[in-house]
Amino acid sequence: MGLDVPIVNAPMGGAAGGALAAAVSRAGGLGMIGMGSSATAAKLAAELPHVANLNRPFGIGMVEWVAAGQPELLDTALAARPALLSVSFGERWEWVRRAHDAGVLAAAQVPDLPSARRAVDAGADIVIARGAEGGGHGEPRVGTLPLLTELLDHLDVPVLAAGGISSGRGLAAVLAAGASAAWVGTAFTACTESLLSDATRERLLSASNTDTVTTRAFDVALGYAWPPSLPERVLRNDFSDRWDGHEESLGPDAAAELAEAIAGEDFTRSPINAGQGVGALTAVRSVAEVIGQLSSEAAELLSRWTTRE
Ligand SMILES: Cc1cc2nc3c(=O)[nH]c(=O)nc-3n(C[C@H](O)[C@H](O)[C@H](O)COP(=O)(O)O)c2cc1C
Repeated sequence: MGLDVPIVNAPMGGAAGGALAAAVSRAGGLGMIGMGSSATAAKLAAELPHVANLNRPFGIGMVEWVAAGQPELLDTALAARPALLSVSFGERWEWVRRAHDAGVLAAAQVPDLPSARRAVDAGADIVIARGAEGGGHGEPRVGTLPLLTELLDHLDVPVLAAGGISSGRGLAAVLAAGASAAWVGTAFTACTESLLSDATRERLLSASNTDTVTTRAFDVALGYAWPPSLPERVLRNDFSDRWDGHEESLGPDAAAELAEAIAGEDFTRSPINAGQGVGALTAVRSVAEVIGQLSSEAAELLSRWTTRE
């Protein structure tokens, strides 16, 4: 794809809009616009002007069960001519053929080797090994390194690594293992170009790597149609402490309580998606600064292993 740095931003619904994607692509990585569970074709169209005249490759990511209910979402994405389309969290593969017909490469996030094999059999060009430590939704089955190494051993397509990569050390580790690139989510959430509010960014900066939990409590309370196999990794708070594992007892009042907490940015109750790499976030920075630091630190570490004459 002609990237200068092997970094792809994860397509994060509500966090990675066109501004963040454009900044990642300008900094030499692959910027991805993320469309999450509340995506619509109109919301995607509103983000596309940021990448329209980039003259650099960019990608678009969406959620499979959301896209399945809104055919115009995929139509809008493909009409924008991304270099890469990622459709996550479902195993109906018609979108792969649609992507290929439009000359677009297809990427699938997978939680284990059987899923990876199904994605490749369905024609996926790139597979993302999404480890359990990653932020946001995902099937938390295996940690990033054991998943990545297993997929690299068994697949012939390029494999990207996702989950917990928030530092130059993490980037160096997955590249040394053989990943073609890192698929980085949480480390970009606190960037100036993300769609998150200043208060959310500050909350992310104050979190440590033991502050996350995987839970369905928020999705069940809000009535989102996420399958039970796909919890989300969030910053743990009073709401998750109270309801995680007891989702069947959530009453109709919970949705209203949560909506109010989200609107008021009351982080003792409202959810913030983040992976275990959140502890590495120390300041609100631009995407260019984050990519510069990740890539220069990784390059320095990897150069130690270069064979000397
Ligand atoms: C705030 C946030 C929102 C996310 N939204 C999406 C999404 O809409 N679609 C998707 O495929 N993945 C989404 N993810 C998951 C990422 O694609 C990726 O698996 C994860 O960010 C990698 O782990 P990391 O956050 O530790 O870097 C999201 C992750 C975060 C942190």
